[in-house]
Amino acid sequence: MSSSLPAAVLQELTHQFNHELLAAQSYLALSVWCEAQNFSGCAAFFAKQAGEEREHADKIIAHLLDRGAPAAIAAMEAPRQKFSSLGDVALHAQALEQANTKGIHAALDAAVAAKDYPAQVLLHWFVSEQVEEEAWASKMVALVQRANCAGGLSSFDRHVSDLLSTGK
Ligand SMILES: [Fe+2]
Ligand SMILES: [Fe+2]
Repeated sequence: MSSSLPAAVLQELTHQFNHELLAAQSYLALSVWCEAQNFSGCAAFFAKQAGEEREHADKIIAHLLDRGAPAAIAAMEAPRQKFSSLGDVALHAQALEQANTKGIHAALDAAVAAKDYPAQVLLHWFVSEQVEEEAWASKMVALVQRANCAGGLSSFDRHVSDLLSTGK
């Protein structure tokens, strides 16, 4: 199978879909932590995010296959699993999304430099997606910081899916 993908774009897309897979594992770990702390609303929210990150990886993998470049799945580090509070969890989710945005922008930079139009179109979807992802993450950080008592956190947890509607 010969590939029409510029090498720099292949490298960035490979890095990015593996990062999306790590994000999926990371959200699964956040979901488990939340469930163990009886924050079932947040657990469900993060389980859904894990599924979405996996879909993001699949989108890039399909693009690579369509262009004759079978995806190279990398070994993965274990996601972080210890957190001190729901605030800590929210900050970690925000950091994950910020890192994801950085990777998407780096991949788009490579696609623009290589005049790789198909990869640019693929990545435009991800650029918009990251605006939504960073929006719910920063809202989560702000709301958890404001809910600085046990009752406030429980109320946040009960309504998390409405509060952080991700537009889907
Ligand atoms: Fe993603
Ligand atoms: Fe995300």
